[in-house]
Amino acid sequence: MSHGPSASGGATLKPSPGHHDAPHEPVFTGATRAALDELITRYPTKQAVLLPALWMLQEARGWVSEAGMAEVAALLGITPAYVKGVVTFYTMYHQHPVGKYFIQVCTTSPCNVCGAEDVVKAFLETTGCGELGVTSDDGRYTVIEVECLGACGFATPVMVNSDFLESVTPDTVPGLLARYQ
Ligand code: FES
Repeated sequence: MSHGPSASGGATLKPSPGHHDAPHEPVFTGATRAALDELITRYPTKQAVLLPALWMLQEARGWVSEAGMAEVAALLGITPAYVKGVVTFYTMYHQHPVGKYFIQVCTTSPCNVCGAEDVVKAFLETTGCGELGVTSDDGRYTVIEVECLGACGFATPVMVNSDFLESVTPDTVPGLLARYQ
């Protein structure tokens, strides 16, 4: 059973200092550019490749910077403003650097009544993040709350990057995190 993150969920992420200052190195060079070019042949227009192109950018850099958006815009022949509109619409795109492991916990009502807040607390304590949207000092983790992940019968569902974990409880959090070091 596969579930995707809610497009309406997500918390406001606080940017980690230091990551924004580095000059932008183009992502779409060599094999990555070749992969994008190949993808373009499979879509009716270049613009239609925007979502996967942004995903490739995020996979390469861990987040989507303004400079990255400009690079994608130039390649696809659209404006940076259009790209930004798309990036800010979908919570799956990170507009700030995040930890190596991006942890999304459903806290919508059905999961909430089953103890999701305690699961969030356990993640914040065990990861050392302390607060939602803040990346741990070791750069490993960022924890956010999200809206319904579509697995209400398996409270509390959690996504760690693209892994979908069901029936998470505060007690199982340390063991789960041991897998993500
Ligand atoms: S309310 Fe949590 S998965 Fe639906």
